Amino acid sequence: MSTSGTPGARLAVYPGSFDPITNGHVDIIERGLRLFDRVVVAVLRNETKAPLFSAAERVQLIRDVFRDRPGLEVDTFDGLLVDYAAARGAAVIVKGLRSIADYEYESQMALMNRRLRPAIETMFLMPAEPYAYTSSRLIKEVCRLGGDIRGLVPPLVEDRLQRTFAAARDPLNAPRHV
Ligand code: PNS
Repeated sequence: MSTSGTPGARLAVYPGSFDPITNGHVDIIERGLRLFDRVVVAVLRNETKAPLFSAAERVQLIRDVFRDRPGLEVDTFDGLLVDYAAARGAAVIVKGLRSIADYEYESQMALMNRRLRPAIETMFLMPAEPYAYTSSRLIKEVCRLGGDIRGLVPPLVEDRLQRTFAAARDPLNAPRHV
């Protein structure tokens, strides 16, 4: 974890699991980059969710999608998000808000984070309409079951998901019991 940056630059942290990054995430990152000098995409490392991709793989996929985009940094974090944001010198946490279904959970987190660190503000951004109903979880499920996920994730992520699930289906790759 680094604490680099120009003093006074407006920095936002955009946290999440990103397992994997979707076009909804890309949309929020693009909006964040229009509002802030720098956006740090912070990939949660210590997960109990048994992610499909390791933190290093998730970071690499995001970096590959954005290819050294100015103003964008991809990092990992664990522990409290507000502590990470404070250590990075960010005054704002950006979150995507897709629908009313997100609101209850997200508002709880935002208020808890405010209680923990009142100086850090949570800013909710709405993605473009086509991404209002998508999530990494649904996209993985659809892809695993052979459905079409084109347009919901960047092409390189689609390719990676197809290959990951194809490998899992391939009997040669299945675990052997002797
Ligand atoms: O993409 P996700 O899984 O919805 O992201 C959830 C995330 C990483 C934003 C959330 O789990 C989080 O902030 N985790 C860090 C631990 C923390 O600070 N917990 C207290 C939140 S009030």
